[in-house]
Amino acid sequence: MRIGMLTSGGDAPGLNAVIRGAVLTGTTVHGHEFVGFKDGWKGLVEDDILPLSRHEVKGISKQGGTILGTSRTNPFEGRGGVDRINEVMADNRLDALIAIGGEGTLAAAKRLTDAGVSIVGVPKTVDNDLDATDYTFGFDTAVGIATEAMDRLRTTGDAHNRCMVAEVMGRHVGWIALHSGMAAGAHAILIPEQRTSLEQLCEWVLSAYDRGRAPLVVVAEGFTLDSMDDPHSERGLDAFGRPRLGGIGEQIAPLIEERTGIETRATTLGHIQRGGTPSAFDRVLATRLGMASIRAVNERLWGQMVALRGTEIVHVPFQEALGKLKTVPQDRYDEAALLFG
Ligand code: F6P
Repeated sequence: MRIGMLTSGGDAPGLNAVIRGAVLTGTTVHGHEFVGFKDGWKGLVEDDILPLSRHEVKGISKQGGTILGTSRTNPFEGRGGVDRINEVMADNRLDALIAIGGEGTLAAAKRLTDAGVSIVGVPKTVDNDLDATDYTFGFDTAVGIATEAMDRLRTTGDAHNRCMVAEVMGRHVGWIALHSGMAAGAHAILIPEQRTSLEQLCEWVLSAYDRGRAPLVVVAEGFTLDSMDDPHSERGLDAFGRPRLGGIGEQIAPLIEERTGIETRATTLGHIQRGGTPSAFDRVLATRLGMASIRAVNERLWGQMVALRGTEIVHVPFQEALGKLKTVPQDRYDEAALLFG
């Protein structure tokens, strides 16, 4: 078979391990050939291809980013659409496409599969917000980077007796905040799933401060104080019409300072969380997902994606991944909150 591959949406550490896992399994075990599309759906619409043989994937599992490039391009906009994509697939003599991406990518892949394009998916997001898979690769690395950053914030916070606010990614879910906050021993973790009042937040901050600690507050970018209508967004919408989040840390830091009198600083970790070397956990998960995507192609499981359930890799329909966000359950938050303040 001839198989096209693309990586689309925000990058996540582990993308290259998926590509390597798929290409090595496909070429050495099944005799498949591969073509890479550059910069996600954009490369497919523009027929911008890259060679993808065993040689190109040599030693790439440990590299961050993606050797194929990525973008947040909607394949139905501009010159795109089903006819154009079928034309490019035919011109390249492709039997199947493996699309590696998050919610936006998988939604586009579903639309294309419904129209007859042969696609299997590999879920990807540092946010860990896809419901049909227990974990996505990239999440473990992002949590590790955020935890290390918070350990550093704590030492400078201790030195100055300041309250430190660390803003992490996650879009509309609080997984990165919950895990990195727990790992770093934060005094408050603010997540989108739990609206919180400024009063409650300041109680936690003061309680830690009064014990002689420099309070660490972790806030997910999608968090809203109970006095706010929507998550803080000041950078417009992305290509799929979703608000670009970020900046809530800088919003709440002066409020904490004003109300508690404790000098407070905010740090937004931003894209540092998505860069650099993937953790060993993410490399293994990504490699297994890449290998499983070839099994899905062999079995012609179009419209399905590979996913992690417990320790097993399974196949699930795109629809299951798109139905709803995997949010932080109440009991996971309550458990963490027992240690706040
Ligand atoms: O979905 C992954 C993610 O990193 C989110 O956590 C964040 O809101 C968004 O992507 C940032 O997108 P961009 O890289 O386009 O700024």
